[in-house]
Amino acid sequence: MREEVIKKYVEKYSLDVVDNHNSLGLYEGFFKNIGFNKTIKGMISEKIESQGKAKVMDIGSGDCGFLHDLKQIFGEKIETIGVDLLVPEKKPDKIIPGDALEIDFPKDIDFVFSFRALHEIGEPEKIVEKVYNCLAKNGKAFLSFRTADLYFGGSGIGEIGEKEIQQLQKMVKDGKFGGFNVKGFEVVVGDDKESIVAGVNIFLEKDN
Ligand SMILES: C[S@@+](CC[C@H](N)C(=O)[O-])C[C@H]1O[C@@H](n2cnc3c(N)ncnc32)[C@H](O)[C@@H]1O
Repeated sequence: MREEVIKKYVEKYSLDVVDNHNSLGLYEGFFKNIGFNKTIKGMISEKIESQGKAKVMDIGSGDCGFLHDLKQIFGEKIETIGVDLLVPEKKPDKIIPGDALEIDFPKDIDFVFSFRALHEIGEPEKIVEKVYNCLAKNGKAFLSFRTADLYFGGSGIGEIGEKEIQQLQKMVKDGKFGGFNVKGFEVVVGDDKESIVAGVNIFLEKDN
């Protein structure tokens, strides 16, 4: 079953007709949309000021434009790690090719981001737990799960469904992670006519 899912996405992205291109600017826009008033660049700068360096991972990193831009800005002070089924042209410091659900994540990551990918990867509870385990002390993760097709509403080809949304909401409600601060919230997107709830976003912060 898992193999079929992976094959489907490898085929889809190998054709290079689906948008997997990104940049710091694009991710800053997503970050703002999910309700943060800080910027990604500002947060990483603060981390580098306080501890001299920062380790950043993007799950479902696509063409790794975001990580590439961060490297251009922060140079040796940042370690960039991309996780994706396909190896991109723009190489971060480390690319971990493979299924995010199966591969081992590196440890002690200061910031984990995932936009436009987790609804394809599936098994949100498992991925959230894996991310929790790879964070450094005071590490933060921003995980965005799409729950509706952004153009048509309703479910598209890869959106997570009601069951998974409920699991995520339950994890948030239960404060499942003890020492971790878990917050979930929803994004409303839409056009002039209608607005739809299109995402569930999980913010993890490791405080011990
Ligand atoms: C729509 S693209 C988004 C890429 C990037 N996050 C962005 O916003 O531009 C989804 C990405 O998730 C990757 N992906 C899908 N399933 C995956 C899995 N199981 N493990 C790792 N990456 C996966 C795809 O290869 C693709 O690069």
